[in-house]
Formats: sequence, structure tokens, C-alpha cells
Amino acid sequence: MQAKRTLILLAALATISLATAIFIFGPRSADRWTEAEVAMLRTLWLGSLPPLPPDPSNRYADDPRAIALGERLFFDARFSNNGRVACGTCHLPELGFQDGLPLAQGIGTTDRRTMPIAGMAYSPWLFWDGRKDSLWAQALGPLENPVEHGGTRAQYAHLIAAHYRSEYEALFGPLPDLSGVPASAGPAADPAARAAWDAMTPAAQEAVTRIYVNMGKAIAAFERTIMPGPSRFDAYVQALLEGDTRTMRASLTADEVAGLRLFIDRANCIQCHNGPLLTDNDFHNTAVPDAPGLPQDTGRAAGAQLVLADEFNCLSPYSDAAPQQCAELRFILSEGEELLRAFKPPSLRNVAERPPYMHAGQFATLQEVIMHYHLAPPAPAGHSQLEPLHLSPRERAQLLAFLQALSEVSD
Ligand code: HEC
Ligand code: HEC
Repeated sequence: MQAKRTLILLAALATISLATAIFIFGPRSADRWTEAEVAMLRTLWLGSLPPLPPDPSNRYADDPRAIALGERLFFDARFSNNGRVACGTCHLPELGFQDGLPLAQGIGTTDRRTMPIAGMAYSPWLFWDGRKDSLWAQALGPLENPVEHGGTRAQYAHLIAAHYRSEYEALFGPLPDLSGVPASAGPAADPAARAAWDAMTPAAQEAVTRIYVNMGKAIAAFERTIMPGPSRFDAYVQALLEGDTRTMRASLTADEVAGLRLFIDRANCIQCHNGPLLTDNDFHNTAVPDAPGLPQDTGRAAGAQLVLADEFNCLSPYSDAAPQQCAELRFILSEGEELLRAFKPPSLRNVAERPPYMHAGQFATLQEVIMHYHLAPPAPAGHSQLEPLHLSPRERAQLLAFLQALSEVSD
């Protein structure tokens, strides 16, 4: 009798532990994906990132000496009006190359929020409005912008000659004689620097601008090495592709998986946030409100005209590309209602680590961002591409949980 009872007890225990094991290690219903969904998830996985595209406009783009020089220039605050602003002042590595501010602070305050830069070597257009078409041309913007670095290209040429002569010459050849070049002069700065620039000979201007352009090409080479790292979402997709249900459960909670399902399905976030960087690098009007106190920002409508007119674009004499290699610029969509207040979607990788959000920090939290997509208000100008989402509070929380799972895991 005693033995029989023990046997029954043991059998019951075994059944319970088997059920527990299936519950812990077996497939969850949340993890069932159709073949088409698996194919979609694979496209969002960091492992699907193709090799870095070449940049024919920058012949130093992958030169290790340019990368090393560019890294030092990126963090060198001498390249500014007050000796206190470097690229790294606003693009802090520990904050995902961002600064956590609604509007960036350099010499003054900018009209827009600092963008994250990891993986931006994949983007054909740079800035919220895409007014630059290469990383090197982009780098030359803030250096002369009065509210960012606020310096001049003649000042920078002298600094290169004084502090980086051997590194520079090893890459780009001998520096010209700069003894006749004023200490500060440039086409885009204050009236005194502008007058000094206009007084220079075209040959001297050209020599200074070449040095300036080469600085940009070295900084761009460094930026090409800045890549996002894998997140729990990537571990989940990898496990899904390998049929490893245990790692799938360990990587994302059921709520995070539900948020992922909304992201690719009913909430349609992948319309614009797609590919392994979770951005299509194109321009969209998503009815983000104006930032109080700032002039109306027309976004891509102005940006498309600016890149066509840019002194340093792919078709310019400073580009190393042949004209037929500048397809993006040559076939640019430069006019149309859809460009008004259209902005570039930032990569959503590490997004939870860098509030506030949008081009002028209009939303303080990811909850506010999700509420915006949920309600889809009319655009302040132009036409919004968004439709109301009708998500329940629980679904909004799940979407938030998923966005938080896109942060890089340090191991
Ligand atoms: C004062 C802060 C500040 C400084 C200094 C600064 N940036 Fe930025 N950065 C910004 C802001 C703000 C934007 C977005 C501006 C816009 O769209 O008009 C931006 C955008 C960018 C982008 C575009 C990313 C994308 O996805 O399109 C890159 C790349 C970048 N910066 C690199 C640099 C480099 C290189 C330097 C140094 C030469 C630099 N930044 C200096 C604030 C700064
Ligand atoms: C029609 C295109 C489009 C769709 C659909 C879309 N986004 Fe965006 N997203 C953008 C654009 C464009 C921006 C930048 C807008 C701006 O700053 O004005 C952005 C910005 C964001 C940001 C802020 C990133 C940052 O660093 O500032 C988050 C978070 C975000 N989107 C999440 C989502 C989620 C979640 C969904 C689905 C509910 C979604 N997006 C759907 C285009 C889109």
C-alpha cells in the first residue's frame, strides 16, 4: 500500500516537472511565426547588415591612417571658435554618439536635435533633412556653423599644419605654404572672417579648402567604423533562425515579442523603420509638431535644394567620384508636396538610451512617441503619412517593451 502511494506520488511529480520543463523550455505560443514573418524578421536582424558600401566620393574612406587621424580630429576641441567644441561634445560615445538634449549645444544652440551616428555610412543622405550626401561633406557643416564649432577653414588649416602635419602629409601629400593665409578666414563665418576670405587669392582659397575637405574625409573614415552592436532582439531572431526555442524565451519576454509583432504588423512601423538599422534612410512627414519658439522647419523640402547646391556634394570638384557614381544625387527627388516637413527616420537601435525624441526633441519619452503614432494627429504642414493605430493601453506597453529590447547588450 505504502509502495503504491509512493509510486503514484512519484508519477505525479514526474508529470509536473515534465509540464514545467515544457513550460520553461518548450515553444511559447508568442513565438509562432509564419514563414513570411520569419523572412521579415531576418531582414531586421543585425546579422543581415551587408558589407559597408564603398564611398567613391572619398578615396580615403577605408584607409586605416585616415581612420586614425579622423578619430583624433573627431575629439579635438581645438577645432572650434572657443577651444571647447569637438564633434564628440555633441556625439558622445557613451550616449550612443548623441547628447541627450532636445536641441544641441555648441558655441550656441542649434535648431535641431543631435542625431545618433552608428551605421550612418549606410545612409545616402545625412542630417534630418538630408542636406548632405556623404559623411565627409556632412562633417564640414558643423565645423563652420556659427552655433556649433564656429571656427573657419583657414584657422583649421593652420591647426592641421601645427598639430597634425606628419599624419596629414603621409596621407594627402605635402601641405602648401600657409604663411600668407590669415589666421581666421572662411566663406561661411562672421563678417570679418568673410572679408579676410574674400581678400585671399582664388589659389590660396583653393589650397585652404583642399585641407578642409581632407579633414572631412579623414573624419568620415573614422565614422564609417562606428557600428551598432547586437541587442536582445538580434539574439531572439538568431535563435529563431536556428530553431533554438530556449534562447528565444531567454532573449525576449512574451510582452516584448507581442510588441515586435505589432511593430511589423498592425502598427506598421516597418513601413519606415526597416532593414537591420531600422530606418529606410528616406524622408517622411509624420506630423511631428513644430518646436515652440523655433522657425517653421520645412525638412526635406529645403534639404533637397541645399544638397543640390552644396559646395561639397558628390558632383563637386572636391568629390573623388565620377559623375555616374553619383546616382543618388543625380536622380534625387527634389520637388513635391511629400517633401514638406519630411524628415529622415533615425535608426531605432539603442533608441531607449537617448531621449528626448524627434528632430527638435519634441517628445520627452518613448511613451509620448508611441502615443503620437497611436493618435496620428494632422501634420502642422504638408500631409502626414500616418494613420491612427487603435492600440489598447496593453498593446502600447508591449510596443514600448519591444523598443527597449533594441538596446545594445554589453558582454
Ligand atoms: C553642437 C553640437 C554638434 C556638434 C559639435 C557636431 N554635431 Fe553632428 N549633429 C548635430 C545636430 C544637431 C545634428 C542634426 C542637425 C540637422 O539635421 O540640421 C547632427 C547630425 C550629424 C550627422 C548626421 C547623422 C544622420 O543620421 O544623418 C552626422 C554624421 C554628424 N552629425 C557628425 C558630426 C561630426 C563629424 C561633427 C564634427 C565635425 C559633428 N557632427 C559636430 C550636433 C552636433
Ligand atoms: C511613415 C513613416 C514612419 C512610420 C510608419 C513610423 N515612423 Fe517612426 N519615425 C519616422 C520619422 C520620419 C521619424 C523622425 C521624425 C522627426 O523627427 O520629425 C521617426 C522617429 C521615430 C522615433 C524617434 C527616434 C529618435 O531618435 O528621435 C521613434 C522612437 C519611432 N519613430 C518609432 C516608431 C514606431 C514604434 C513606429 C510604429 C508605431 C513608427 N516609428 C512608425 C518615420 C516613421
